[in-house]
Amino acid sequence: MKFGYFDDVNREYVITQPDTPLPWINYLGCEAYFGIISNTAGGYSFYRDARLRRLTRYRYNNVPLDCGGRYVYLRDDESKQFWSPSWQPTRTEVENYSCRHGLGYSIIGSTSNGIEAHTRYFVPMGENLEIWQVKVTNRRATKATISAFANIEFCLWDAQDDGTNFQRNFNTGEVEVEDGVIYHKTEYRERRNHFAYFACSRPTAGFDTQRESFLGRNRGWDSPAAVEAGQLTNSVAHGWSPIGAHQVKLELEPGETQQIVFVLGYHENSVDQKFDPPGSQTINKSTVKPIIAKYLDAKEADAAFERLHQYWDGLLNICQVNTPDIHTNRMVSIWNAYQCMATFNMSRSASFYESGIGRGLGFRDSNQDLLGFVHMVPSRARERILDLASTQLPTGGAYHQYQPLTKRGNNDIGGGFNDDPHWLIVGVSAYLKETGDWSILDEPVPYDNQPGSEQPLYEHLQRSFSYTLSRLGPHGLPLIGRADWNDCLNLNCFSDTPGQSFQTTTNKEGKVAESVFIAGLFVFAGREFADIAKHRGLESEAASCLAEVAKMEEAINQHGWDGEWFLRAYDDFGAKIGSKECDEGKIFIESNGFCALAGIGLEDGKAAKAMAAVHAHLATKHGIVLQQPAYSKYYLNLGEISSYPPGYKENAGIFCHVNPWVMIGEARLGHGDQAHDYYNRINPSAREEISDQHRCEPYVYAQMIAGKDAPSFGEAKNSWLTGTAAWNYYAIVQWILGIRTSLDGLQIAPVIPTNWPGFSARRVFRGVLYRIAIERQGSGNHIALTVDGVPIEGNIVPPPTDGRELVMVKGILS
Ligand code: GLC
Ligand code: GLC
Repeated sequence: MKFGYFDDVNREYVITQPDTPLPWINYLGCEAYFGIISNTAGGYSFYRDARLRRLTRYRYNNVPLDCGGRYVYLRDDESKQFWSPSWQPTRTEVENYSCRHGLGYSIIGSTSNGIEAHTRYFVPMGENLEIWQVKVTNRRATKATISAFANIEFCLWDAQDDGTNFQRNFNTGEVEVEDGVIYHKTEYRERRNHFAYFACSRPTAGFDTQRESFLGRNRGWDSPAAVEAGQLTNSVAHGWSPIGAHQVKLELEPGETQQIVFVLGYHENSVDQKFDPPGSQTINKSTVKPIIAKYLDAKEADAAFERLHQYWDGLLNICQVNTPDIHTNRMVSIWNAYQCMATFNMSRSASFYESGIGRGLGFRDSNQDLLGFVHMVPSRARERILDLASTQLPTGGAYHQYQPLTKRGNNDIGGGFNDDPHWLIVGVSAYLKETGDWSILDEPVPYDNQPGSEQPLYEHLQRSFSYTLSRLGPHGLPLIGRADWNDCLNLNCFSDTPGQSFQTTTNKEGKVAESVFIAGLFVFAGREFADIAKHRGLESEAASCLAEVAKMEEAINQHGWDGEWFLRAYDDFGAKIGSKECDEGKIFIESNGFCALAGIGLEDGKAAKAMAAVHAHLATKHGIVLQQPAYSKYYLNLGEISSYPPGYKENAGIFCHVNPWVMIGEARLGHGDQAHDYYNRINPSAREEISDQHRCEPYVYAQMIAGKDAPSFGEAKNSWLTGTAAWNYYAIVQWILGIRTSLDGLQIAPVIPTNWPGFSARRVFRGVLYRIAIERQGSGNHIALTVDGVPIEGNIVPPPTDGRELVMVKGILS
């Protein structure tokens, strides 16, 4: 069952039923001001940091699930009936409901009793504000007298404190209302020099800023007393819960449309010019007023929307593909790329599942995210890399997370996740391959943000690489530390205390437990690093690095192979994990996928065997589960992985983040059919038809789909902010379609399904537009390339040196 459809031409997903199984959300903003918005206008906004500068309030895990947002109410002043065109919060039945989630905007509306209303929400480029353009049309044969209300609830800035510290917060709320604009200024009197505002383009018939005056006692957003009465009360909040509500009266002739623009924004004043007049407690509004005036003008708002549209078109047009598979096309050309930008902007902070007060930016996550967005925003990728590297510890290890506002490593979580440092190599390598900007390696970058500790970025990579060499275990495999990619495989934790953090509790010395996954990652990252060294002319460094990689491969062959597949790890007792000898957790996806991806065992058949074992034991119709059999009980020596009920999350859930490793492994083996089959098992568009089972948005990936051991097998959770976005993008574009960045140029090496006659693509790479056409003439993966009609050797097309800005690449597969 579907709840909408893809409008690929407009790059929108159109939801046609408001009661989706879960809130289906979108993001507003892509620079500093952000919001999440659900298909029924729920959600909230923040400036830069979802915890520390939360502008509007949202109650996670509320009932109904998604209540609180950017709400518009309409009231027929004759019949006195009121409703929400976005369905929530009144949930009055409406006709022709639609929510168009587009790139950086959402348009939500419906018709009720002959009154049609749609609101377009977006954040203009370069501004710290959001615009709501509400268009109301009278479809009746007679004149209509309508009151339109718009409403938000302010958050008192620090979202964590806002949800917990009521003894203080019920006293601090303050607002000003001037010329019809509502200013929220809690704590502005003391150490804050920022405030929020909510403005309306039309003369208003009233406002409210005190929640209780608007709602009335014991009422919710579904039936505000002031809306019901048809008159806001002009309340001025002191303490309690400041809100912003405006009322506009509309007289609409039959067929007439009128527009109201609302602007919700964030503004900072310089500390010495906070008040006007100086010495008063009144906000100095001189710098904000022109901004407000500008965007309340509908023409300016339209122009800003056009610029936003162009921005996104520009980003997406960097890579467009046209294959025989519609799901591949729309994910690669539109939604997966868009999701990759969301993970760049948000990391793991704010979604419907990430409350914005939890995690900082993950070192591992953010480096992997680069794989998906570096081609769209290379200069911002560069900045991200330098920020990440600046938090690296002198040991080469890493803080597991850093805070986006301060850009400092997060002491609460600390470090010791022994895979972390290698992801920096992977991220930097992706950047170099995309941009050819070798200067980044010479950038001075501190360790742990300590002034004076700066070393070239290249040195950070050296320390990342050698980090593992000084942390090898009894089998010559890398010690796992607190965990590796799988945050929940906590082999040194041994926690028996409720509520203790699995990720930061360490009860063992950590000298025994080893990770075959990190071994595979070391081989992969080590080869990338050796390549970088070679390109810098550091031949002997490259050679010694490859010697270490070879030793690690040997250790994997000796101690990391179980006969039919790669082992996962050794625990603190030196016992195998992910082996046929185990009762549960006999085979895992991560070590098998990653070793194959890294090319380990390609020659001697181990990779092929491992992929066959994954297919036999882990693959399901909804995707590949993380391990089998699922852990049926809690194991002290394994940690959080066994804390989840079977089939969920890391305990045998379909962790969509790691499925692409198997796709790439299959592609490396030349198995295009199998690789693409796995790709579409978890492709959200390909799952649209089962939206009632999948439940999450059909336009973006979710972190997890419940595995076959779960009662809700096939149900997705935790959409949007997940490494799944980047890895699937990377797998399909770079390994299946085979449009692969390399240090020397754009490599073209497709491993596509045998029944595809070919495909075409456009890819802007280092400033040059590559128009790529692939034609299948035989069933294999051998490719013969011509560039502008001239046959070339091999499969790497170097960027032209003669200033050409367009190259035509033709590939014949046989
Ligand atoms: C989450 C984390 C990621 C981790 C994965 C597996 O997605 O963000 O860092 O690798 O879970 O535990
Ligand atoms: C939990 C989750 C895991 C995530 C981690 C982040 O362990 O299961 O997916 O990576 O939290 O802290």
